[in-house]
Amino acid sequence: MKNLLVTGGAGFIGSNFVRMVLAEYTDYLVVNLDKLTYAGNLKNLDGFLDYPNHKFVKGDICDGKLIEKLIDQYKIDCLINFAAESHVDRSIIAPKDFIDTNVTGTLTLLQAAVDRKIKKFVQISTDEVYGALGAEGKFTEQTPLSPNSPYSASKASADHLVGAFGHTFGLKYNITRCSNNYGQFQFPEKMIPLMINNALNDKELPIYGDGLYIRDWLYVYDHCAAVWKVLIEGKKNQVYNIGGCNEKTNLEVVRIILDRLGKPESLIKHVKDRPGHDRRYAIDASKIMNELGWKPSVTFEEGIVETIDWYLNNKTWLDNVVSGDYKKYYEQMYKGR
Ligand code: NAD
Ligand code: TYD
Repeated sequence: MKNLLVTGGAGFIGSNFVRMVLAEYTDYLVVNLDKLTYAGNLKNLDGFLDYPNHKFVKGDICDGKLIEKLIDQYKIDCLINFAAESHVDRSIIAPKDFIDTNVTGTLTLLQAAVDRKIKKFVQISTDEVYGALGAEGKFTEQTPLSPNSPYSASKASADHLVGAFGHTFGLKYNITRCSNNYGQFQFPEKMIPLMINNALNDKELPIYGDGLYIRDWLYVYDHCAAVWKVLIEGKKNQVYNIGGCNEKTNLEVVRIILDRLGKPESLIKHVKDRPGHDRRYAIDASKIMNELGWKPSVTFEEGIVETIDWYLNNKTWLDNVVSGDYKKYYEQMYKGR
């Protein structure tokens, strides 16, 4: 199990995963397939792009011929699928892109994995497939799938396809369902980097609705370590929830950011809510903790300080990604809200 095909490895979580593997597991080959959409950025792989055990390929997971060629050429053993359209707000404006990549793309990868007899397929999914929680309870792996947004519906469809390929064609797989990630190289459409960027520029922080929505924040390094555990030790055809054990309201998160940056709370602006906004996500991660011995290494209070400082120290990266198309996106999403 030494030759890995990682898809979406120029995005936020995928690039952190690729860096981790290249730095820590040097006897592995990583073939990194990414379409380089607005969310994919080779700058996320600075310093690692030319490693001898890293092959970057620009391409689409919907391109079956390319996938088969890469599997044959690099004698791929395992496939880890991070590639996705990943932002809920965009899925409300343009759902079709989500079906194309998240459903058809995953199907294409599954077909190639079965045809080429891949040893293991790891699907990176999300806790959002379970729907929303009220004030009590947590998602377990047994919670029925009940997705609410076009994004989460597309991810749930992909999860069902993975399970079906295991059941029908004997594909060996794992599915991971993680909570909201934060950390270095996250595209500033997602809440934490968007709020950091706005605060740094003394712009308003757009809080949807009452700001009492709750997410269970997971530091991206902890997520990557968990995915590695699942890849190496995950039991056949099992689903693993991965959570940070850090439930926070959105208002709590932005207050921590403002405090760290020395900016006033008057920057907070409550804006029109997201349609269909899920109230609360919380993960019961006891299965991966008990079976595979994984646990988060940092609290939110520790991880968020490291994250804010990373954005402060990488202003050029941030300034580059918020130029061009980002401005149009921001205008479309937030103007008149
Ligand atoms: P991201 O949007 O930062 O990166 C996605 C990457 O996939 C980009 O590099 C993009 O270029 C690539 N991509 C998109 N369409 C592609 C296609 N058709 N072919 C090849 N590459 C393509 O996303 P992320 O936040 O890194 O999320 C990675 C995975 O984790 C996704 O599957 C997402 O659903 C899941 N996830 C993310 C979070 C989170 O908090 N970010 C939480 C739960 C689950
Ligand atoms: P987001 O980072 O988009 O992740 P997800 O919707 O997948 O959980 O949003 C996290 C939370 O922050 C969610 O409750 C929506 C909220 N939010 C805002 O209040 N304002 C914003 O500008 C954004 C992008 C998100």
